[in-house]
Amino acid sequence: MKIYVFGVRGGDEEAPLKNWMAEHPEVEVGFTHDILTPDNANLAKGYDGVCSVQREPYAREALKMLHDYGISKLSVRNVGVDGFNFKDLNDFGFTLTNVPVYSPNAIAEHASFLVGRLLRRVPEFDDKFRAGNLKWSPTIGTEIAGKTVGVIGTGHIGSVFARIMQFGYGAKVIAYDIDPNPALENLGIYVDSLDELLAQADIISIHTPLAPQDYHMIDADAISKMKQGSYLINCARGGLVDTDALIAGLDSGKIAGAGLDVLDNENGIFQKDFGSFDAIPNEKFKNLASRDNVIITPHTAFYTKRAVHNMVYEAMDTQIKLLNGEITKNIVNTK
Ligand code: COI
Repeated sequence: MKIYVFGVRGGDEEAPLKNWMAEHPEVEVGFTHDILTPDNANLAKGYDGVCSVQREPYAREALKMLHDYGISKLSVRNVGVDGFNFKDLNDFGFTLTNVPVYSPNAIAEHASFLVGRLLRRVPEFDDKFRAGNLKWSPTIGTEIAGKTVGVIGTGHIGSVFARIMQFGYGAKVIAYDIDPNPALENLGIYVDSLDELLAQADIISIHTPLAPQDYHMIDADAISKMKQGSYLINCARGGLVDTDALIAGLDSGKIAGAGLDVLDNENGIFQKDFGSFDAIPNEKFKNLASRDNVIITPHTAFYTKRAVHNMVYEAMDTQIKLLNGEITKNIVNTK
């Protein structure tokens, strides 16, 4: 059995992949640090299946090349599959698997840090500190305890985040989900509509996948329904929030602060080194990142040692099952 692995990051993914390879001498593995594109899809020629991870959209041409080499099993090492055009997958007869759960805590903890850093005004303290100003005033903070935290989406990640907020910080948690999580029913946190959540929450955190109907779920209309001075956290998908509406909400003060691990149009800037802030070719990013009340992390909420290990191991194990013709629980499309 031969598996080709694309997009193996040198600094953190290569070691778990090499460990997995040492544990599976029966599998021949080839890999590259580069993500899958039409320019390098030929590397997979002669292999039985492919494993990959990337935030850039998957090019139809690259998938066609894999198909032409007789490859029909593709395993991604992450949760989101919004980089694929499902028509392409189906046209070329691919079975696609993901890793639906690799470490919900990684993302939920990160979201909670964004809340804490925003409410305690850490970026402003950092700026003052670097300027030699160690005075307290006027950078007074706000406590999370007693605040109403609205959780949109209560799957694996949203439910961990809800528990951290409720039991760790003592917030009042409310949640909205089209498919409420039975494990949370006893907490009595669900409200009946997104509008209800928007109207009641002081802090809103998004934890849903990007389904086409949820594109710009948080737009100008949704923001107009929020409480004055509320905080918005997005560690889910950039396309869930309309960046222009967010900027307008921050300008007007309707939104007091935002913690963003993802951005609409993050492709092309995140995971790249431009050498200086000014050189980053995205004005909306620079507008947001220049504000004291916005914290941006470049899609790193997932990025922990445990998560990366689990992503590699689960995706590679799944790829073996696929190639052996065993049904796996992680199949996200049916041909
Ligand atoms: C996912 O698992 O879908 C993520 O967002 C992280 C990934 C891009 C590495």
